Amino acid sequence: MEQLPVSNLDTPAFVIDLDRLERNLDAMAQLTRQAGVKLRPHVKTHKSPLIARWQLDRGAVGIAVAKLGEAEVMADAGITDILIAYPIVGEPKLRRLADLCRRTEIRVAVDSVAVATGISQVGRQVGRDIPVYLEVDTGLHRMGLEPGEPVVRLARAVRDLGALEVVGVMGHAGHVAAASTPEDAARVGEDDARTLVATAESLRQAGFDIREVSPGSTPTTRQALGVPGVTEVRPGTYVFNDVNTVARWAATWEDCAAWVVATVVSRPAADRLVIDAGSKVLSRDPSLHPEVPGFGRVRNHPGLVLDRLSEEHGVVRIGLQGSALEVGDRLEIIPNHVCTSLANFEVAYGVRHGQVETMIPIAARGKFQ
Ligand SMILES: Cc1ncc(COP(=O)(O)O)c(C=O)c1O
Repeated sequence: MEQLPVSNLDTPAFVIDLDRLERNLDAMAQLTRQAGVKLRPHVKTHKSPLIARWQLDRGAVGIAVAKLGEAEVMADAGITDILIAYPIVGEPKLRRLADLCRRTEIRVAVDSVAVATGISQVGRQVGRDIPVYLEVDTGLHRMGLEPGEPVVRLARAVRDLGALEVVGVMGHAGHVAAASTPEDAARVGEDDARTLVATAESLRQAGFDIREVSPGSTPTTRQALGVPGVTEVRPGTYVFNDVNTVARWAATWEDCAAWVVATVVSRPAADRLVIDAGSKVLSRDPSLHPEVPGFGRVRNHPGLVLDRLSEEHGVVRIGLQGSALEVGDRLEIIPNHVCTSLANFEVAYGVRHGQVETMIPIAARGKFQ
């Protein structure tokens, strides 16, 4: 690739510091290997078959996705072991699931007989049992059944449907967002994993051959790895980290490997400037970090507060200290939630030593179905 300094990139641009990304990938690969637990990263963070390949090359056993569209993009790129960690509902999706099952190894998550019924029909169509993870509510109160007996009842119903094999249990400790101390966060992670292990044990006692116990969330991975019985983890955000991963004590600012480069396009008042990055590229996810009151951390000017977003404008508040920034100057913003920011870009720029080294297509961008 021809030399392209980062400073010449048009904005807004999504930039990935490759040294930091590789450090994050290596660290998670090593952490899971040392714990003897499989790594099945959730690729909703990067939506990129290239980065998924880097994860697999470092030892990941497969990947997790939220959407069928993401699974299709990853399968097209030759990725062969995919967990769809999201309920698949409706005929159009079931048809696409059958196509996917014919060409790659797919496992799916379910938390109801209604969803399992559709998947079971797909299993009959493709002529084999589809591996199923049962989703357990470990405290997030989003998806999943209450641990223990309700999950065992669902397992029996799923078995009765036929063409399905219950192979695992999964959870997602997203409620770690509400933790107020590192100890609190650690407790959430440990409880989440222990709940899944206990539910897997109940299922085994009921005669199910549960091979996978799969918690997943970046801030709770370390705790999950310390709980005997956990077989795989599904962190996603760890590849880049963001304001909220730092806020939940799972990373430092030096571990943040991705940011949006934006240009100052207006200085309409002494206490305000406007950049060309609004909610369409930064997302409106709130910050959980007490020192980041706005919609992201301004990396090269941490005193500035990005306190208002409209679609294409980011309004930055300048405090009493003032700012010499002018139209044309650039800010680097670490998003509060990196996944929802990157999901809007067609391409990310992999950079090293101030130069663009590679362009990373966000191939699963827009794959929300
Ligand atoms: C089901 C599921 N698994 C795994 C993850 C990964 O969690 P994190 O982004 O904290 O790494 C998520 C994140 O939303 C998820 O919803």
